Amino acid sequence: MQILDTLVQDFTAELKNVNKTADLLNLKAKYIGKQGPLSDVMKNLKSASVEEKKIIGAKANEVKNAIESLVSEKMQEIELAEINSSLEKDRIDISLTDSVLNKGLQSAGFHPVTLVTREIEDIFISMGFEVLDGPHIEDDYHNFEALNIPDTHPARDMQDTFWFADKKHLLRTHTSTIQVRGMKERKPPFRFVGPGKVFRCERTDASHEMVFHQLEGMMVGKDVSVGNLIYFMKTLLSEIFKKEVEVRLRPGFFPFVEPGFELDIKCLICSGKGCSVCKHVGWVELLPCGMVHPNVLRHGGIDPEEYNGFAFGLGLDRLVMMKYGIDDIRHLHSGDLRFNQQFKSF
Ligand code: FA5
Repeated sequence: MQILDTLVQDFTAELKNVNKTADLLNLKAKYIGKQGPLSDVMKNLKSASVEEKKIIGAKANEVKNAIESLVSEKMQEIELAEINSSLEKDRIDISLTDSVLNKGLQSAGFHPVTLVTREIEDIFISMGFEVLDGPHIEDDYHNFEALNIPDTHPARDMQDTFWFADKKHLLRTHTSTIQVRGMKERKPPFRFVGPGKVFRCERTDASHEMVFHQLEGMMVGKDVSVGNLIYFMKTLLSEIFKKEVEVRLRPGFFPFVEPGFELDIKCLICSGKGCSVCKHVGWVELLPCGMVHPNVLRHGGIDPEEYNGFAFGLGLDRLVMMKYGIDDIRHLHSGDLRFNQQFKSF
């Protein structure tokens, strides 16, 4: 009993100097391990009377439990200290210091898609258009339903979509969602453009990415005509390329326009001879457009008997490729600063 009486006290005194896991386990073994004093007491218990066995046995158990709980408390303390010290040691400085800026933004300049987006915004602002924005995460209504693409319509297959688990939300597949929001918020006549990122579950190649950029445009008023549409498209292209570019207009199907067109540009990478960017046809699909379908106007709260309009959805990445002679869309998202640096002077 004398040995047991002081054991916890002695253990606690020695515990104060321990701050490593291995030392803690050694100390535990020293007191309550097989060669330790507690074990000795238990071995000698054989020669004690029944009454003594009861008292000493209970006390021995109490001592063992007390030491074990002190050990587990200390173990937690040591583990926490070890985690904190490794966090401190492996700390990464994510602050935006001058040296980071020099290596990145300042030395590389703006991304070519940003450059061209700003240029196009300026062109349209000068022609009286507003610039709108819209959310990347959309619902079924804004991405499809309000654009005259009801559930089960085969046109949904044209845009492979990233759905959220709730089956209600998705990453927008085109900037036409901005049409829907823009129409609801204003009364005709109006004209606006809306650039931004769009997302499709696509197999990538020289002209296809899964995340790319479009610029939506819409003009609604009285007696808007296909002639107006062509005028704005031609002005845009000649301002961007600073020269006459060859274009062709062919019929195209989009449920939200009627009639619908595909405006293609003669491939500037191969001068129309055929390459991997234009899929060897000499023309690049750049600017689908058309006259806004009456159902779409109705969804936007506009009377199609009174007003009409045009809309277009420009593929910004492909336009950037044509403008700067980039032969693979994947360079744009490579994150390679050497690529960006080439646009520093633009
Ligand atoms: C649309 O997304 C329609 N919302 C465009 C539209 C708006 C039509 C208004 C009529 C009126 P489309 O799926 O064709 O259409 O895409 C438009 C443009 O985005 C294409 O011409 C092309 O330049 C570009 N594009 C399409 N898919 C990709 C892709 N995977 N990678 C890069 N660019 C792409």
